[in-house]
Amino acid sequence: MLKVNNNFLKLAGSYLFTEIAHRVADYKAANPQAPVIKMGIGDVTLPLPKASILAMQKAISEMAHKDSFRGYGPEQGYDFLRNAIAEDYKMNGVQVEADEIFISDGAKSDTGNIGDILSKDCKVALTDPVYPVYVDTNVMAGRAGELQANGMWSNIVYMPCTKDNGFVPSLPKEQVDVIYLCFPNNPTGTTLTKSQLQVFVDYALKNNALILFDAAYECFITEKDVPHSIFELPGARQCAIEFRSYSKMAGFTGTRCGYTVIPKDVVAEEDGQKVSLNKLWLRRQCTKFNGTPYIVQRGAAALYTSEGRQQVRQMADYYLENARIIREALIKAGYEVFGGVNGPYVWAATPNGQSSWDFFDYLLKEKNIVTTPGVGFGPSGEGYIRLSALGSRENTIEAMSRF
Ligand code: MLT
Repeated sequence: MLKVNNNFLKLAGSYLFTEIAHRVADYKAANPQAPVIKMGIGDVTLPLPKASILAMQKAISEMAHKDSFRGYGPEQGYDFLRNAIAEDYKMNGVQVEADEIFISDGAKSDTGNIGDILSKDCKVALTDPVYPVYVDTNVMAGRAGELQANGMWSNIVYMPCTKDNGFVPSLPKEQVDVIYLCFPNNPTGTTLTKSQLQVFVDYALKNNALILFDAAYECFITEKDVPHSIFELPGARQCAIEFRSYSKMAGFTGTRCGYTVIPKDVVAEEDGQKVSLNKLWLRRQCTKFNGTPYIVQRGAAALYTSEGRQQVRQMADYYLENARIIREALIKAGYEVFGGVNGPYVWAATPNGQSSWDFFDYLLKEKNIVTTPGVGFGPSGEGYIRLSALGSRENTIEAMSRF
């Protein structure tokens, strides 16, 4: 008899952003004239950088000729992109080798798939609130246990990030094997300083744990003491994997490209033998992934040229200015807000203690603004909404005038 992976049955019917999309679609169907502004899912709105477009056009032309056509590429990515990334790390004082870099179709897939190479028995710690992919994929893998009445999974260790601790998580209260950290943070838009992140690296080294560090929002860092890469910190090469993405950095949410760095120094022990996670991931990718399209990788590599770098900077600055506009408008309107300085998300407390979903519904129906309810990111997100600064300037200003 056919059986399914019944861990999937433990999950909510739909993924957070799918649920929001359904609610918005229902509202729009009933109110087709409503001038709805989307500040929910963090989707970008500026077109791709010119440097990427030109590189991709050239790559398409190569595909049109027999002698420059490319079929299957290396599953781990083309050398031209891996070398450019390694060089970029080096320019920033971080030692990462090209063969420690795995090109992919984005950080969502990689942070979701990385669990393939980890035991089902690993104890996982997550910040709360958190990017829902980390939770849901651990539920799918059977690591999360059961969903409890308080919205927490019985086998996951939660590290609350609240205004009381300045959104800086404390170390897990019990020993864990895997710690997911995303900084600059999705959803709160807040960051950790180098010394705050070092606490986690030291913990991981001491406890043989692995840090999965999602740096998808690195390009938005504006403050000095905020690490751009976990590998800036001593010891991190022995205990961390870093995920990066071109989605927010270069408008690749639809184009799809990112990468994962697994230092060769990260090893686990299995039956007294040292096992390289870099090798396991390569094995996984060669079996389950056929590489990011050549054309897309050319588009990504162009971001490391001087024109590309300049265009990426302009793009990040544009969204950071939106974030500033959102922050200031909300503060003026009396809201308590966080984030939006080193990241494209603003995290705002709901007024009068309203629940996240109630305030989400109010904003959708009365103000025609789509946000993301904080509780969708975890129990500690209750009483907050998240606003994305990745929209257009006009829509950002218009939405803020409605507050
Ligand atoms: C978000 O809104 O949290 C992100 O856009 C989701 C993602 O990057 O997958």
